[in-house]
Amino acid sequence: MPVVETGRVVIVGAGLGALYAALNLAPRAVLLISPEPLGQGASSAWAQGGIAAAMAATDSPEAHAADTVRAGAGTVDAAVATSVTAEARAHILDLTAIGTPFDRDAQGGYVLSREAAHGLARVVRVRGDQAGREIMAALIAEVARTPSVQVLEGVMAVGLKVQGECVTGVAVAAADGASDPVLLQGAAVLLAGGGSGGLYALTTNPPRIRGQVIGMAARAGAVIADAEFVQFHPTAIDIGEDPAPLATEALRGEGAALINRDGRRFMLALHPDAELAPRDIVARAIFAETQAGRRPMLDTRAALGAAIVDRFPAVVEACHRGGIDPVTKAIPVAAAAHYHMGGIAVSKEGRSSLAGLWACGEASATGLHGANRLASNGLLEALVYGRRAARDIARGLNDAPQPKVVLALPQGGQQPAVDLIAELRRVMTDHVGVVRDAHGLKTALRRIAALEAQALGDANFLNMTATATLIAAAALLRQESRGAHCRRDFPAAKPELAQRSRLTLAEALALRQTVTETQE
Ligand code: SIN
Repeated sequence: MPVVETGRVVIVGAGLGALYAALNLAPRAVLLISPEPLGQGASSAWAQGGIAAAMAATDSPEAHAADTVRAGAGTVDAAVATSVTAEARAHILDLTAIGTPFDRDAQGGYVLSREAAHGLARVVRVRGDQAGREIMAALIAEVARTPSVQVLEGVMAVGLKVQGECVTGVAVAAADGASDPVLLQGAAVLLAGGGSGGLYALTTNPPRIRGQVIGMAARAGAVIADAEFVQFHPTAIDIGEDPAPLATEALRGEGAALINRDGRRFMLALHPDAELAPRDIVARAIFAETQAGRRPMLDTRAALGAAIVDRFPAVVEACHRGGIDPVTKAIPVAAAAHYHMGGIAVSKEGRSSLAGLWACGEASATGLHGANRLASNGLLEALVYGRRAARDIARGLNDAPQPKVVLALPQGGQQPAVDLIAELRRVMTDHVGVVRDAHGLKTALRRIAALEAQALGDANFLNMTATATLIAAAALLRQESRGAHCRRDFPAAKPELAQRSRLTLAEALALRQTVTETQE
């Protein structure tokens, strides 16, 4: 494989964590790998809710940390929750300083949304449901003003180069698959390329986010934590689009109700907080209504009426695409894979278990989210760990400018494995979804192995199957129900299992092999 010595920190990904880390590394030279033009294709840009931060006079980081720990169902690292929530305010002020147009009230205070399992309104937002897009726009403008950051667009990472126990480079290829790889060697590698939602047939994640970044770290030998904890969002708009558009939880914060085909508010009987119960509980209720054929819907009519048009423009636009007018009709919804709490295990500095490799954002597992992420803590975590990783990496580097990398990708490559990917996604939704059991998880492991055998060495697909294997294996090993991980064959939480999981790909593959050899 051709080798290019970049002299730069190589950042894989182009979402919030990636851009923020690149800015925090300045003036140290950075090469940022983005499969799509900046601002397109990253999960952060699709975030509707906003960023959780104790900005109100009546709030405190301690209260925010307590809600984070409570929502996480027994496996949040309390020290991580304390330190992340304590830093939240500073990051909101920094984003404001670079031009993020957060919604403000007449006195200049931040307008805050209420989302599920928060004790009070705590989510800073931009024009209702435009937070992700606007924060990303502000960061992209700042990156354009920062000469130390070089962005390579149209290129995707397909693997990591490991020498001894140290990551020394990233193999990249054309994002459409139409090239052979080139190895980019760098001063350090930061993985910030998103989670795994797109491994599922029903997801709110952008099309390229299919667990590849976690998978490539696992294939290089990195430890993966909490892989079994996949969060399903209760209110993906069910209009047959792939990915499914989101109806932000902030709508329920405004009083929108969940009803079924019979007009019944089914959450009232299930939790004292009804529609604002923790996300895993609402997602399972939606799933149950769907399975029972009772067509769950989000009814914003009484709470918002025509105001939804100005206050939640992204939701309204998606509804219109599906032929629904939310001013007069309830919005059909389904539970869809939304956020992976698990990922590359990292320290408080964002270091992975491999030297030379850092991770931040959804690709990482810091211990903040436990088994069920508190709403709008995802972007917060990406900011906190993007900066921490940048500072940790910077410690070992000088700030000498580096020449621009000129990349000539060799002709070749493989067509994306479209049919195999579609089948993998079906397997994950059918057998590793909202409700799981041993039989389904073993079926999934066998089918993932069979799909992998057909992949003809396609590195991009093998990165996906690595993550799929880790999720299914970790879910099989966790013989209890906890947070977003629901086992119908082990319906209760077991106090002795209230800890985070850690798994290597080698361990997950050994389990898969055993399962494959024992057909049931
Ligand atoms: C939402 O707006 O409902 C999603 C927010 C999140 O996933 O944190």
